[in-house]
Amino acid sequence: MKKQPSAIHAAITGVHGYVPDYILSNDNLATMVATNDEWITTRTGIKTRHILQAPDKGTSDLAIPAVLGLLEKTKTDAKEIDLIICATITPDMPTPAAANLIAHGVGAINAFSYDLQAACSGFLYALVTAAQFIESGNYNKVIVVGADKMSSIVDYEDRATCILFGDGAGAVLLEPSKDSAIGIRSSILRGDGLGAQHLHIKAGGSRKPASATTLSTKEHYIYQEGNIVYKYAVEKMSEVVLELMQQSDLQPKDIKFLVPHQANKRILESVAQRTGFSEAQVMLTIQEFGNTTDATIPLCLWRYEPQLQKGDKIIITTFGGGFTWGATYLTWAYGA
Ligand code: UT7
Repeated sequence: MKKQPSAIHAAITGVHGYVPDYILSNDNLATMVATNDEWITTRTGIKTRHILQAPDKGTSDLAIPAVLGLLEKTKTDAKEIDLIICATITPDMPTPAAANLIAHGVGAINAFSYDLQAACSGFLYALVTAAQFIESGNYNKVIVVGADKMSSIVDYEDRATCILFGDGAGAVLLEPSKDSAIGIRSSILRGDGLGAQHLHIKAGGSRKPASATTLSTKEHYIYQEGNIVYKYAVEKMSEVVLELMQQSDLQPKDIKFLVPHQANKRILESVAQRTGFSEAQVMLTIQEFGNTTDATIPLCLWRYEPQLQKGDKIIITTFGGGFTWGATYLTWAYGA
């Protein structure tokens, strides 16, 4: 999508994250499935992931503290929020949307709210969607929160997937900027439903509602053909980052940070290599949080916020189930 010139630009004016206290280490996992720290570290780069252990809590319980922290940090009254978009694949329940529960939980009584589902690209899709509301001139404060309780859809007897995922949430505030050099500059979003066969959850939707059978066959858990997804992730993220840089006349040296979806450290290294970024330019949190699906990008921004300064150029790129993928080029709006 080539961005049309607009007098109003959508800028990220704050970011906050939340992960639950309980830490699941590689050594813990080695007591649950046939794996070990060395395999997980060398194949994925993951050392720990945070897990929401409370069985009666859902994704909104991760998102609410992230949003409350964001409101406090940015000195924003919840009543001023116009819209909350929650990117998630693990809403508390099929309906209502997690975003409705989050808006209620943080006291955003004047906001409308909805969920957006685009698997690991959900946060980026939601960020670009939210930017359109700001650029329309009709909305002044929009929150995008990416949150997932991945532990609710992971089979802890499947070593190929249970080592990868963690729970967490991250939120950003978007506000208008009249400075055309600040904020979201351009984006490319893509998708291809042919990828569904390689990464999906077989049961629990309308095609195959949950039943005693689907429970016993474990079809309510995430299914991934890791090797295939890996290859597409490297290829598509690299392709879209190169296209975005060409479109925006950018070189890697112009960019402070590349912010890739955190699925596997080796994927990030390959994308950086193919697109010409150095290791130091790549935001990396996978060692600490694992793959938190919709939360990886805002958790990266949260962790690296102290290193970001006003005017820094960054490129976000994601790849996930669908398949869905994309990249966004933006200029950071605040900091020393
Ligand atoms: O966020 C959405 C997008 N998702 C992704 O981008 C994930 C992409 N995929 C991946 O990150 C990787 O494919 C995995 C980390 C999932 C797997 O790594 P891999 O290097 O592709 O391993 P593999 O699937 O080719 O398996 C290699 C071997 C197999 O054993 P054999 O058949 O060679 O004997 C697996 O059974 O490693 C075995 N294996 C394990 N061994 C120890 C698979 N999982 C484990 C494990 N511990 N946890």
